[in-house]
Amino acid sequence: MSRKQMTTTGGNPIADNQNSKSAGPRGPLLLEDYQLIEKLAHQNRERIPERVVHAKGSGAFGTLTITHDITQYTKADIFSEVGKQTECLLRFSTVAGERGAADAERDVRGWALKFYTEQGNWDIVGNNTPVFFVRDPLKFPDFIHTQKRHPRTNMRCATAMWDFWSLSPESLHQITILMSDRGLPKSYRHTNGYGSHTYSFINAKGERFWVKFHFKTRQGIQNMSNEEAAQVIAQDRESSQRDLYENIEQGHFPQWDFKIQIMPEEEAENCAFNPFDLTKVWPHADYPLIDVGVLELNRNPENYFQEIEQSAFSPSNIVPGISFSPDKMLQARIFSYADAHRYRVGTWYEQLPVNRPKSAVNTYHMDGSMNFSTPSSSNAYYEPNSFDGPIDSSEFAEPPLKISGDADRYNHREGNDDYTQPGNLFRLMSAEQQQQLFENIAGAMQGVPQEIIERQLAHFDKADPAYGEGVRQALGMVPA
Ligand code: NDP
Ligand code: HEM
Repeated sequence: MSRKQMTTTGGNPIADNQNSKSAGPRGPLLLEDYQLIEKLAHQNRERIPERVVHAKGSGAFGTLTITHDITQYTKADIFSEVGKQTECLLRFSTVAGERGAADAERDVRGWALKFYTEQGNWDIVGNNTPVFFVRDPLKFPDFIHTQKRHPRTNMRCATAMWDFWSLSPESLHQITILMSDRGLPKSYRHTNGYGSHTYSFINAKGERFWVKFHFKTRQGIQNMSNEEAAQVIAQDRESSQRDLYENIEQGHFPQWDFKIQIMPEEEAENCAFNPFDLTKVWPHADYPLIDVGVLELNRNPENYFQEIEQSAFSPSNIVPGISFSPDKMLQARIFSYADAHRYRVGTWYEQLPVNRPKSAVNTYHMDGSMNFSTPSSSNAYYEPNSFDGPIDSSEFAEPPLKISGDADRYNHREGNDDYTQPGNLFRLMSAEQQQQLFENIAGAMQGVPQEIIERQLAHFDKADPAYGEGVRQALGMVPA
């Protein structure tokens, strides 16, 4: 088999890829050795900035198959008929660690999905938890700073985490999940996924429904203790990557049942809790899970960098029939992700094959760095025009959304029940799970000043007195 000729990036055949060009056999080197310079220059540019959060991740391609008819709630083309299949990409991640972090860490797992639908890309950028630590996006960068390294010690800082959490009672629900057995999953395949936010569905009649997205693992929930994880990390920092990659290579395709919860539009006004508050779930008894389909991952990426590192997900990627909600966190994320991608990957990140929709893209955006596919030769390079360029269509307009209120900065901690739902979660845990929770919290509080511990214990007490008591015992503050 004849092998291809090696070339420079400009296509010039390379005669010698073993020896640089020097003045005499001992050197020095000649500046004209462009082949050496090109090689070194490319190496200097091999990395792009890592994601500011969720930097360590793994991904695979797959299919969503619709098994149940939900067209009464949404006209989205992806749900148009039972049996319909749509290609998708799912990137899992941990949140706090850098790109080289070990997988088996106690942390929330990111669950970022991109569905390549016939009407553009639909992204669900969720987590393996149905709630989040904060409910106002103004607090998100502060929260993330407590998860990253201390500016002086350059180490993770338990004091910062518990200081912030104890001063932010809305975090209690998510802390309870993070410190529970589910806070350290055995692998990505053994996690559930949640859209977490409330989104909206719009049906063919123009009716709006509020919706939550759930993906329930068919592999079963499986977790690790801190001790088991320490053993895993000592042997293998890529345990989740390896598990996902090898299972798919061996044809053991992981699957999840895709389900939704639905709330009619008007019901949001009379709901006992704010259904747009990301620190709350919708109780299953009031909003039962409705079957939709099956998600399967069945293809590993050919090139990790091109297809996973450069993949770019955004809650702003919605399609007709699926839209946003007033959730303040979601509102901020609609802005934040595309902005992050323009910085991290580049202005035209959506032209890269992994991010490019499978459907037609017709915009009037022009030029810009590394733009390689927008049409430039037509007379229709502005809008409106008389040259048959693409136009907007009112058929895609959403029904108007009723909103009211004076513009102000409303105290989101006033009159908000931060304790009932974390308490409900605590009460549904078995005695063994509760004991794990106490011990995980006590372990994570090592070295934290007593004043901060006391402030946090008061939150556990309010969720359930047995919760506070159990943590006190695990901390050795009261006899077991
Ligand atoms: P249900 O008894 O109907 O549901 C309990 C839910 O809790 C199940 O979805 C179960 O997931 C999940 N769960 C069990 N253990 C844990 C854990 N350690 N960490 C996270 N989730 C866990 O009760 P409700 O709907 O009334 O909710 C009660 C509490 O359950 C909530 O306050 C919330 O903390 C938690 N929860 C609720 C969800 C919801 O959408 N309603 C979703 C996830 C959690 P599984 O079925 O996979 O075992
Ligand atoms: C990644 C911002 C809340 C899930 C990111 C990134 C940013 C960001 C800037 C990096 C994007 C990139 O460079 O590709 C924010 C802001 C939030 C917020 C501003 C709140 C206001 C959330 C919440 C969830 C979430 C609530 C889940 C429910 C994720 C996931 C990723 C991510 C899964 C990784 C996506 C991937 O795999 O590429 N976030 N985030 N984030 N975020 Fe958030």
